[in-house]
Amino acid sequence: MSDTAKLTLGEQELELPIIVGSEQERGLDISKLRGATGAITLDEGFVNTGSTQSGITFLNGEQGILRYCGYAIEDIAEKCDFIDTCYLLLHGELPNEQQRESFRSGIIAEMAIPSGVQDLIRSFPTSAHPMAIISAAIQALSTHRADQMDPLDADQVASATQGLIAALPTIAAYSHRHTAGQTFIAPNPELGYVENFLTMMFADENGEYEIDQDFVDAMNLLLIVHADHEQNCSTSTVRMVGSANSNLYASIVGGICALWGPLHGGANEACVKMLKMIADDNNDVAKYVAKAQDKDDNFRLMGFGHRVYKNYDPRAKIIKKACDVLLEKLDLDDPLFEIAQSLEKVALEDSYFVDRKLYPNVDFYSGVIYRAIGIPVEMFTVLFSLGRLPGWLAHWQEMHASPGKRICRPRQVYTGPTAREIQ
Ligand code: ACO
Repeated sequence: MSDTAKLTLGEQELELPIIVGSEQERGLDISKLRGATGAITLDEGFVNTGSTQSGITFLNGEQGILRYCGYAIEDIAEKCDFIDTCYLLLHGELPNEQQRESFRSGIIAEMAIPSGVQDLIRSFPTSAHPMAIISAAIQALSTHRADQMDPLDADQVASATQGLIAALPTIAAYSHRHTAGQTFIAPNPELGYVENFLTMMFADENGEYEIDQDFVDAMNLLLIVHADHEQNCSTSTVRMVGSANSNLYASIVGGICALWGPLHGGANEACVKMLKMIADDNNDVAKYVAKAQDKDDNFRLMGFGHRVYKNYDPRAKIIKKACDVLLEKLDLDDPLFEIAQSLEKVALEDSYFVDRKLYPNVDFYSGVIYRAIGIPVEMFTVLFSLGRLPGWLAHWQEMHASPGKRICRPRQVYTGPTAREIQ
């Protein structure tokens, strides 16, 4: 196959180089298009647009493949924990024993957050959504870290990266404790990352909490499957903000805000609310499948469909299996898990969903596991942000390391009034 494509625009003909990725994906390089022809491309929602070349995550939505740095998500979920996964995404390789230990201990040592940030969290109404609290608290944290603000200084970026991975679980747990009217529990340097998060979330006022290994394993799994997903909405936002040479903290806050939306990370919260609504409505699954197809009704089956996956989301498969195991181990009978399973069955047999290749996505079953662990529904998207943080950080760093890095500044086709004068 030729390594260029030909574009004919009126009388003009332009050769567009074809960039081929390591998995043989092809992208037409249009970087000279406007200069040569005056025309631009138009692609609402960036459905056909590659914003960058990236070596972090490969996904093939038609075949349901997801790999971090070449490793299949199924393999990572089985053999690694979340901290290994963070290291992999940030460094491109899994850590050896010594690297793992130093990475892990560096993070655990920095989990405590300044008292000023704790006070800020306490200042919010207890009705505040924790996603609003964590985004504000990360910005507040940056005001205590003036020596980590330069996005072009590698040492400052390394400190900010470690500091963010360390602080987010603490901020997340405190946002929950504040809304629950509980005092804050300090991180324990003797505990691991997930163990610390669960303890800071659930310990009693004396700091007592019995760690359940099943919960630790389930949390690790959920964080791993959320850790990266190439150029998704929040990661693209982080890259977009960072492209202006904004500092790392500000860029990550941009990602948190994008993730909050129900069409993205907010879908896990919206999905459980939807399953509850179906449960309260006599488990009438068929009614909601019909509503989702009605073009006059803006109801959608939350946790279904994906911009890229036109096959079963491999992360949903991993989570569904883990759901089964966890509920059986805990001897729990979650009615929402049963509704989710029957909804999935009905939808997957329905021609509307079959024709549009709408399958359950990562968020369809994750809420059931969070519920089993005791995580309140408002915290689901916060947990997603904990998981996605290493992906955001890795992409931000990759963007800055790219020799072709430029500020992200799309163009538009203007459709407003032509020139006129105020009468
Ligand atoms: N329920 C019912 N119909 C749906 C759904 C759904 N969940 N998702 C898509 N469709 C239909 C659309 O109505 C459209 O139908 P049409 O062709 O007859 O007009 C068709 O499928 C294509 O949908 P689009 O919205 O064009 O697909 P897009 O790629 O833009 O959106 C998205 C993907 C946002 C994920 C969408 O499927 C959705 O809203 N799903 C529910 C929310 C959700 O679960 N989000 C989490 C995504 S995973 C993540 O971010 C971690």
